[in-house]
Amino acid sequence: MQPNDLLTGDLRIGVEHRVRFCRAALEATSGTTPPIVEELARLPRTATGFRPRMLPVVDGGFAAANPDFAARLRRTIESAGSAMPAIDEPLVVPGGEGSKSDPAVLESILNALDRGRICRQSVVLAIGGGAVLDVVGYAAAIFHRGVRLLRMPTTTLAQDDAAMGVKNGINHRGKKNLLGTFAVPTSVLCDLDLLGTLADRDWRSGFAEAVKIAVIRDEALFARLERDAKAIRERDRSASEPVIRRSAELHYRHILEGGDPFELGTARPLDFGHWAAHRLESMSNHRLRHGEAVAIGVALDSTIAMLDGRIDETTQRRIVATLLELGLPITAPELDDLDGLMQGVEEFREHLGGVATVAMPIRLGASAEVQPPGREEVAAAIAILQR
Ligand SMILES: NC(=O)c1ccc[n+]([C@@H]2O[C@H](COP(=O)([O-])OP(=O)(O)OC[C@H]3O[C@@H](n4cnc5c(N)ncnc54)[C@H](O)[C@@H]3O)[C@@H](O)[C@H]2O)c1
Ligand SMILES: [Zn+2]
Repeated sequence: MQPNDLLTGDLRIGVEHRVRFCRAALEATSGTTPPIVEELARLPRTATGFRPRMLPVVDGGFAAANPDFAARLRRTIESAGSAMPAIDEPLVVPGGEGSKSDPAVLESILNALDRGRICRQSVVLAIGGGAVLDVVGYAAAIFHRGVRLLRMPTTTLAQDDAAMGVKNGINHRGKKNLLGTFAVPTSVLCDLDLLGTLADRDWRSGFAEAVKIAVIRDEALFARLERDAKAIRERDRSASEPVIRRSAELHYRHILEGGDPFELGTARPLDFGHWAAHRLESMSNHRLRHGEAVAIGVALDSTIAMLDGRIDETTQRRIVATLLELGLPITAPELDDLDGLMQGVEEFREHLGGVATVAMPIRLGASAEVQPPGREEVAAAIAILQR
């Protein structure tokens, strides 16, 4: 081969991205196989006689609220016999954003993977909110260059958004998600029954992502959120669950059909409201939950879209009223620091590279990629929201 010869080809990855919603994931309801057992039984076995291992890593907040979960998980897996991986003692890690910011948490997961002799045929079972799924997903993606990951999201936000994607990450040098990889999980099992023990504040936070995606992708979902906001806030299951599932499906379809699952372009079309949200999370030292910051970001960008003439005033009012009725914030003291906030645009640009665009609604259910907002517009929108 000559030094200048070119080798080129279309590298097709061809991995299944699998998400399943269920109830009672650990139970054999009326004689059926428990969903968790079904998911694990699907893992391909590469060598006969070799039994892979499984390390459960559990969100501390979830574990505290569900003290018998780990024992039930072990019983379910062990009673399914040798078709199941050999289950290790679960590792419990602190829940919440701190798990993504504290390097000791990542280190403790890598230690447990090493101690548990987790190999590329083994599986890491991540059980928790979006933050724990992100740090466990990152550890699983870098250990042995990537081991199998089964996600069990336990928050509304993780089930209706975070667990649907192919990203993981941790915060580093004070920047949100500075380290992370794109990695497709082996499967995602969303058990709606696991949401029962969530604190009200965390319950509500997840619906900010549903409003976000409804405004830019699905007018009917928005109408449902608007109509059922109070019932959702009060945790009525028949009002909440269809919203969680539809939001999850829209996020999932975007990965599968959006044409840019690994975000190689300069747009992140689903990140409506997120340039401000990520910044507000950092500015508030994570006092604001991700979902709360998204609610503020969505209110802010909807107001900017109104000032730009992209959406009318009625639409902006409907969006803001729905967020408020869901019990979500639309302002925070951090909005008073305009210089600090505007750094969010810069960080967004830095992350994507080149001339970044942001998604803005052009009517309910549709959006366009536009230049990020300028300082004056942001200030005017904040003044309207703070009235
Ligand atoms: N990777 C992605 O594509 C993606 C997408 C969206 C959001 N995220 C990330 O997700 C994170 C936010 O996730 P979140 O909203 O799930 O919050 P979270 O993970 O911070 O969890 C919130 C709190 O709920 C507790 N908890 C979790 N499940 C529980 C349960 N069933 N019962 C009782 N307590 C429970 C946790 O311990 C924590 O204290 C952010 O870091 C965000 O950046 C990632
Ligand atoms: Zn988000």
